[in-house]
Amino acid sequence: MNSIKEYLSKRKEIVDRALEKLFIPPGSPEVIYRAMAYSVMAGGKRLRPLLTLATAEGLGTPVEEVLPLACALELIHTYSLIHDDLPAMDNAPLRRGKSTCHRVFGEAIAILAGDALLTMAFELVAEYGLKGENLRKVPAIIARLASAAGVQGMVGGQVLDLLAEGKSITLAELEQMHLRKTGALIEAAVICGALAAGSSPGQLAALGGYASRLGLAFQIVDDLLDREGSAEEMGKLPNTDEAHLKSTYPGLMGLEPAREEAGRLYQRALACLEPLGKSGRLLQQLAGYLVFRTG
Ligand code: IPE
Ligand code: IPE
Ligand code: MG
Ligand code: MG
Ligand code: MG
Repeated sequence: MNSIKEYLSKRKEIVDRALEKLFIPPGSPEVIYRAMAYSVMAGGKRLRPLLTLATAEGLGTPVEEVLPLACALELIHTYSLIHDDLPAMDNAPLRRGKSTCHRVFGEAIAILAGDALLTMAFELVAEYGLKGENLRKVPAIIARLASAAGVQGMVGGQVLDLLAEGKSITLAELEQMHLRKTGALIEAAVICGALAAGSSPGQLAALGGYASRLGLAFQIVDDLLDREGSAEEMGKLPNTDEAHLKSTYPGLMGLEPAREEAGRLYQRALACLEPLGKSGRLLQQLAGYLVFRTG
């Protein structure tokens, strides 16, 4: 394929079609399916599924084989966004260019839509396990996904985020919070692709190093965009972190040092890919797309 842009838009299309199928026909009660589909299909960059696919493809595994895992990552991510936007958390009105799930369907349905997406993700992983030789890979994949989504990862990080509101925390504490609330799922996206592709322990270690640095850089860029981005490009309101007294990289370090830190992490992420040679080429390009984004 001649350009990474073309690769990404083709893969995003495949992911979008696979996600769409999960909600057709809607089950009963219809409202919960509508709420789930509303948030999943509202758009989004699909970065986590793209990371899963690019990792597996780089290691020689076809897209169709890992597609259910890629979708599982996106369902977990969308669940985290629905809950992140709730009045009890970030109280956000806009997400992916549309009113947030709770604004359209009410808080109770939004909470349940998040719960149902998380559960559906594990259903997809189980179905993946029923095909071909996949079964033996499933325990490691489930363990990784569950720890990344749960209290050791995203949920724990979100708690740290709430506890840090209005407080002054150290850079080390902020790094831990970002690594958990955002980095863990990004790392799981890469590792699940690698586990599906049957990668060696050495490859797994290199990919883990790449993904954790990238995940941290990704959340720093999210913090920067909150200060500098536009609602049109991001599909969510800017200038919300300061209003909620959130602890962020630009808040703690200043804008320029935060930008430099994201750049350093990006370089370190790329360095981690070196042992992978050609197999890491897609991920190398994808990293640039993640870090140097405007939305
Ligand atoms: C937003 O994630 C929340 C963070 C973890 C920073 P994305 O920027 O990937 O959001 P979508 O999926 O494109 O909407
Ligand atoms: C959210 O971080 C991370 C998640 C686990 C969802 P933010 O609260 O900064 O994400 P946005 O800016 O609302 O997308
Ligand atoms: Mg938040
Ligand atoms: Mg938020
Ligand atoms: Mg943010």
